[in-house]
Order: sequence, then structure tokens, then C-alpha cells
Amino acid sequence: MRKLLIAGNWKMNGSLALAKNMIHSLKQARLESEQIESMLFPSFVHLSSMLELAEGTKIKIGAQNVSEQLQGALTGEISLPMLQEIGVTHVLLGHSERRSLYNESDELIFKKTKLAVEQGFNVIFCVGESLEARELGDTKSVINKQLQALLASPALLNHITIAYEPVWAIGTGKTASPEQAQEVHQFIREKVAAKDLARSQSMQILYGGSVNAGNAKALFAKPDIDGGLVGGASLKVEDFLGIIECIR
Ligand code: PGA
Repeated sequence: MRKLLIAGNWKMNGSLALAKNMIHSLKQARLESEQIESMLFPSFVHLSSMLELAEGTKIKIGAQNVSEQLQGALTGEISLPMLQEIGVTHVLLGHSERRSLYNESDELIFKKTKLAVEQGFNVIFCVGESLEARELGDTKSVINKQLQALLASPALLNHITIAYEPVWAIGTGKTASPEQAQEVHQFIREKVAAKDLARSQSMQILYGGSVNAGNAKALFAKPDIDGGLVGGASLKVEDFLGIIECIR
């Protein structure tokens, strides 16, 4: 049985006060005894403090991005060894904001993913179609293309969690219906199964896009939806905990 993973992506939001409050509340929620896991992606600046706050718990803390180089004259970038040094074990890659606002290509995202896994990290690998692609009926072909390089390297799959985030549902208040999301999740799991059947059964596939306490239960009840990558609703303790509460 796959556990449900509820992950919060804080993007360029959050503060030390939120970090303290959130970790404190997640500790109180005592998820260890249940089939629910939690993960948070704060800004780089807050990683060290959050790792310290989460020490001794099962709350996972990940980075929102990383450089595709291990070191060098790359002003403003953060490397995998730097993350490793402070104890980060998870990295979020391929988020649609990185793809669209920072022009990250499928090639670059795969390069980062491969390097991260080689360096011992686990990667939350995001895919998702635009509204235009959905309306044209191209959803599956877009997802297929985004997954292509990854699926051509099945050895990496043991260290990958896939997050399906339709771009039209991110930060818009529009959510994919449980049926729409399930259809894509099933498609993704079948693609993984064709490469590694065992891994396809153990891999958590997350849904992201305006997840909140009102829609989480129906989404996560679908057989191939194993939790959520939550943006806006992860920025308030009561909203994030509300998602966990509604699936308990
Ligand atoms: P949202 O963001 O929950 O605010 O739609 C999700 C994400 O971007 O990961």
C-alpha cells in the first residue's frame, strides 16, 4: 500500500515564523503512526533552519531547484553538494514556473534530475500540460514528452516521485476533476510500469494544482493519486493541516 504524501511548495513565500509554526503543528499532528507523509519545500534561505526544526521527525524538507553544475562561476546558483552538506535529501525539479518563467527545457530538467540522483538525492519530478494543450487534446502527448528522457533511464526511477500539475490549475483556483487527474495519473503509472513494473507499484504520483481541504479527499481517493503538491494552501498552517485532517 502506498502512503499518501502531502508536500508543500512554498515558492518565493514563507518566513522563519511560518517554518516554526508549520513544523510545530506537523509534529503535533503525529503522522508517523498513519499512512500519511509530509514534505515541505521552503526557500533555500530557510532550508537549514527547517532541517533543524524537523530533526528527529519524519517530516521531509526539500529544495525547490538546484543547479545542473556541481560547482563553478555561476553567480546566484546553488549546487547539489551545498544542499548535501546541510542535509537536504529531496529536490523539486521541472515545476511549471521553472519551465515557463525561467525557460527550463526538458533537456535541462533531465540533466538536473540525473545529476541529483547520481549525487544521492530523491527528485520530485513535475509534469503538466497547458490549457491550450488540454483543449487541443494533447495532454498525454505533452506528458509523454516531458517524461521521455526519464523513462529512457529506468535506473533513475527508484529515486523519482512524479507530480502531475496541470499548468491551468496552478494558483488559479481551478482544479482538475478527480477523474481528469486519475486519467493522467493512470497514464503516467502505465508508462512507468512499461519500464519497471515493481517501481510503478511503489511510486507515489502526486497531484498539484489548487489542492485544498475542500477537494483533497476526492482527489486522493482515486487509486493512482498518492497525495498532493500544494502551493497556496501550504502557506497557512490551518489550510495545510486542514488537507491532512480531511484525509485522515
Ligand atoms: P497551487 O500550486 O496549489 O497554489 O495551485 C501548486 C504548485 O505550484 O505546486
